[in-house]
Amino acid sequence: MSNKVNLSVNIAGIAMKNPVMVASGTFGYGPEYADLVDLNQLGAIVVKGICLNPTTGNPTPRTAEVASGLLNAIGLPGPGVDGFVSKYMPFLRQHDVPVIVNIWGKTIEEYAEVARRFDQVDGIAGLEVNVSCPNVKEGSALFGTDLDMFRRVVEAIRAATRLPIIPKLAPNVADIAAFARAAESCGADAISLINSFPAMAVNIKTRKPKLANITGGLSGPAIRPVAVRLVWQAAQAVNIPVIGMGGISRLDDALEFFFVGADAIALGTVNFTNPAAALTLVRDLEKYLAGIQVSSLSEIVGTVTT
Ligand SMILES: Cc1cc2nc3c(=O)[nH]c(=O)nc-3n(C[C@H](O)[C@H](O)[C@H](O)COP(=O)(O)O)c2cc1C
Repeated sequence: MSNKVNLSVNIAGIAMKNPVMVASGTFGYGPEYADLVDLNQLGAIVVKGICLNPTTGNPTPRTAEVASGLLNAIGLPGPGVDGFVSKYMPFLRQHDVPVIVNIWGKTIEEYAEVARRFDQVDGIAGLEVNVSCPNVKEGSALFGTDLDMFRRVVEAIRAATRLPIIPKLAPNVADIAAFARAAESCGADAISLINSFPAMAVNIKTRKPKLANITGGLSGPAIRPVAVRLVWQAAQAVNIPVIGMGGISRLDDALEFFFVGADAIALGTVNFTNPAAALTLVRDLEKYLAGIQVSSLSEIVGTVTT
């Protein structure tokens, strides 16, 4: 029965064998996990965020475990566009899996320049746009929480590349639907959400923050109900595909996201403790759909009854 289930999806014009992706920053650039996971069986790989030039990230400690979650302020270290293309693309091109590059910048112009450079690179399926960073030119407001700046960054990237673009919405906004609609109207091909949630933890013996950066992003099971709510609200607001993430470890978690309208999902923090989680989920999803006699994933997407 299971061979009748069609798990393939098309997200933002990117053909994927299944809807299970790995989230940016939790799967390196691919090679780090290649001995542990058959990369070709993933729906897509989203690589760690890349900006124009090499970056070193934040001082340590950069991570702290909290109840049902992880707090991180890694600070986006990376090889820059040229370093990524020369060091990792030859490896990634040998695989039969869509590569989505997560991009970020310190200014709108930098985002556009990164997108323009990737437009010329073979083997890249699309760009996910991390907007949870400050605009260093314009008062340090986050691109992802200021609607006007968000629009401008999506428009600038749209004008700079023919690649599919997937803005990754920040969770700490009052009206997620407004950001989802803005992404769609500025030419995004899909949206993804959620990025980690701004948070803080304190060591009660030293009375110091547990992260050198003081605050960081909360991820893992702790944020899942927040993510499900935001995906539900965003999915109702747009017609473009929605990629849901936030605390997904297993089939039951993923189903919540599909039911509220996610067309695909990504696993993040769980990759650190169980690198096989995404592929286990693919098999479990196939069995589940066969068990309820559904032949294609789209039949269950958005079927929550409220
Ligand atoms: C250590 C770490 C690094 C991350 N780096 C990035 C990044 O570079 N770009 C980005 O858009 N999101 C980044 N994220 C956010 C994840 O891609 C994901 O949106 C978030 O963790 C929620 O999913 P999860 O709860 O399954 O981890 C990072 C998350 C973690 C835990």
